[in-house]
Amino acid sequence: MRRKTFITMLPASLFALKAWAAKTENKPSMKMLIIYYSWSGNTRRMANIIKNATSADIFEIIPQKPYPENYSQTVSIAKKEVDAKYKPQIKGIPENISTYDIIFVGSPNWWGTISSPMRTLLSSMDLSGKKIVPFMTHEGSRMGRSVEDIKQLCPNSEVLEALPIRGGAVDKSEQEIKNWLRRLKII
Ligand SMILES: Cc1cc2nc3c(=O)[nH]c(=O)nc-3n(C[C@H](O)[C@H](O)[C@H](O)COP(=O)(O)O)c2cc1C
Repeated sequence: MRRKTFITMLPASLFALKAWAAKTENKPSMKMLIIYYSWSGNTRRMANIIKNATSADIFEIIPQKPYPENYSQTVSIAKKEVDAKYKPQIKGIPENISTYDIIFVGSPNWWGTISSPMRTLLSSMDLSGKKIVPFMTHEGSRMGRSVEDIKQLCPNSEVLEALPIRGGAVDKSEQEIKNWLRRLKII
């Protein structure tokens, strides 16, 4: 390039570069929140893997009345609750939900669907206009009918690809979780 041409073009190039930089700086980043319930820890571990990969905020649902520590007692209480679509009381809901664009919704599979405390939470909040990303831990039923149930509880949200992971396999699933987040273009 001749010296004169280069000097003439320099201001235009600098202007274009500055405009591009401003656009990149102003690009609104998606604000993300992970909401989860976990009875025995598997879903909590999956939620934390997602948190470490995304830096999303995180909120754990705590039932007002704890479920028994005994597995078969909890299984039989949960059966009645799932059949009745019961909504147990929970200790609080996330604040400032309007500031979030993407909400991860994580639950153990309870009798083929989301756990009762998650049903309470989704019924108590208006997630209209949000993108919901379901995740679940299970022992064979994968997502079951939980995606349909989430869509029913949040009819005005966009429900994106869900990820089920077997409870006992959560700790070796970091790659699978990251691949899913890449497919969703979240990381
Ligand atoms: C009340 C209850 C009901 C369950 N129902 C199912 C089920 O229908 N299908 C399934 O694959 N796993 C079922 N499981 C297994 C859990 O989904 C699985 O162990 C999960 O990873 C537990 O997550 P958590 O440790 O976060 O509570 C059930 C477990 C409990 C306690």
